[in-house]
Amino acid sequence: MTTNELDFIVASARQAFAGAATPAELENAKAQFTGKAGRITELMKGMAKLSVEDKKTRGAAINAAKQAIEAALGDRRQALADAELEVQLKAEALDISLPGRLREPGGLHPVSLTMERIERIFASMGFDVADGPEIESDWHSFTSLNNPPNHPARSMQDTFYVDINGDDGIPYNLRPHTSPMQVRYAHQHIKKHAAAVQAGGAMPEIRVIAPGRTYRVDSDATHSPMFHQCEGLWLGENVSFKDLKVVFTDFCRTFFESDDLALRFRPSFFPFTEPSAEIDIQFQSGPLAGRWLEVAGSGQVHPAVVRNMGLDPEQYIGFAFGMGPDRLTMLRYGVNDLRLFFDGDIRFLRQFR
Ligand code: PHE
Repeated sequence: MTTNELDFIVASARQAFAGAATPAELENAKAQFTGKAGRITELMKGMAKLSVEDKKTRGAAINAAKQAIEAALGDRRQALADAELEVQLKAEALDISLPGRLREPGGLHPVSLTMERIERIFASMGFDVADGPEIESDWHSFTSLNNPPNHPARSMQDTFYVDINGDDGIPYNLRPHTSPMQVRYAHQHIKKHAAAVQAGGAMPEIRVIAPGRTYRVDSDATHSPMFHQCEGLWLGENVSFKDLKVVFTDFCRTFFESDDLALRFRPSFFPFTEPSAEIDIQFQSGPLAGRWLEVAGSGQVHPAVVRNMGLDPEQYIGFAFGMGPDRLTMLRYGVNDLRLFFDGDIRFLRQFR
């Protein structure tokens, strides 16, 4: 065994390590030299036969070769680890010079803003806020509201019908107004307080607004087949038309932030109220000054409706109104075409953000 041979083994090890592309390959290469059956290990085993003198010189030479191989192995390990880190860093590189992605804040739809405003004002007057179905039974939309089948008053509303019959065999409808919420809510209210009443307590007054979507076969600059209404109902033992005037006047002045607003209750007809009135408002200044603008239908709840609620009309009286939040939104923001609200044009809607 010559020194040349050891040099050759060290050189082969360096070459094998350099050729290893991964840590696993490197460990395999290492095994060929310093592993259990490696070439250096074999040489060490062979030393047993040598004389004491030879053992010393050979041992030193083999050890030197082994150390050289281990140094080469360490260098290659480090190089592979560095390369791996490099790749990882590249893959995770962040280009911090890129401009950020701006997320523009969203905004509420103008009609939603109006709805929230209406809810806030009526809540401050002690009104509950209720929600109900948009697909309604014939009984809730019409019959319960003193509007029997075949009665001519039904043609006041050009109603959408759904291809499904209710229990009464009459098709469901897309509610043409929020008034079905009067009887629906009254039923919920009575049920909610039934136990307390049974125990001898008094039932609290019914005081609620019910905002939501409504539908009619109607379409022009001031009518959309889908539109919004907000029903109001206040029923108690002594709630009069005067209370309607006070509440609605208060509401309008708060909504439009103006005391300089005139209201007119114009006699009208609805099957579910008696007497009935159309409510008009008039601005005293601004671009709409002097014109009477219709904003709601209203009246004292008809005894037949109170009876359908399950209440005694001799005991419970009060008023109801149904107003158009779309109309209120147009007036508040000076928009002249209702359809703009429902076209979904972001340039229009963004202005209310
Ligand atoms: N429901 C009526 C309409 O849609 C409005 C109304 C509601 C009138 C409540 C009186 C009482 O025209």
